[in-house]
Amino acid sequence: MDKKKIAVLIGSLRKESYNRKMAKEMMALPSERIDLEIVDIADLPHYNEDLETEHPPKSWTAFREKIKGADGYLFFTPEYNRGMPSALKNAIDIASRPYGHNCWAAKPGGVVSVSISALGAFGANHHLRQSMVFVDVLLMQQPEAYIGNAAALFEGGTLVQDTKDFLEKYLRAFEEWVAKF
Ligand code: FNR
Repeated sequence: MDKKKIAVLIGSLRKESYNRKMAKEMMALPSERIDLEIVDIADLPHYNEDLETEHPPKSWTAFREKIKGADGYLFFTPEYNRGMPSALKNAIDIASRPYGHNCWAAKPGGVVSVSISALGAFGANHHLRQSMVFVDVLLMQQPEAYIGNAAALFEGGTLVQDTKDFLEKYLRAFEEWVAKF
């Protein structure tokens, strides 16, 4: 059976991002059912309807194709002021347009939120879920993934075993979720 292609979107743009590290940890786990591939959102110009001409920015078009071509989405997001970072919201908006050409629709998804604080970016996780309702990405409900105290989890550069085990549990559940579609 062909593996399903899952686009991984990371809400943090910084190199040493804990969200990126957590995504990489999950991507390092073996899967016979899904392929995880990071789709970069760093260089997407801010969404502006005036640019929605016959020739929109090339990076928008390339990003839209990648989102359309994926079988599902896995988001890793930090929390900025109790919401998702603007770069991630921008990416969601770009692939939802032009009107009538929503690239996300009717696909499965998952959200992992990672923060250096104890709350595990709960606010960003649910802010993202709000937009997913409208763009029609069907998010896995359980297990939820709010990973807090991220700096401590990577002490010495290696992720602690408990969190590795949790990421594995999450990935197996996500494989099941994707298989339902
Ligand atoms: C933050 N941070 C943060 N953390 C949190 O738990 N709740 C919040 O509301 C905020 N707000 C916030 C705003 C802005 C502008 C920044 C830059 C940061 C801290 C944040 O969790 C921390 O920087 C993480 O390390 C970001 O994730 P990455 O970049 O490590 O993936």
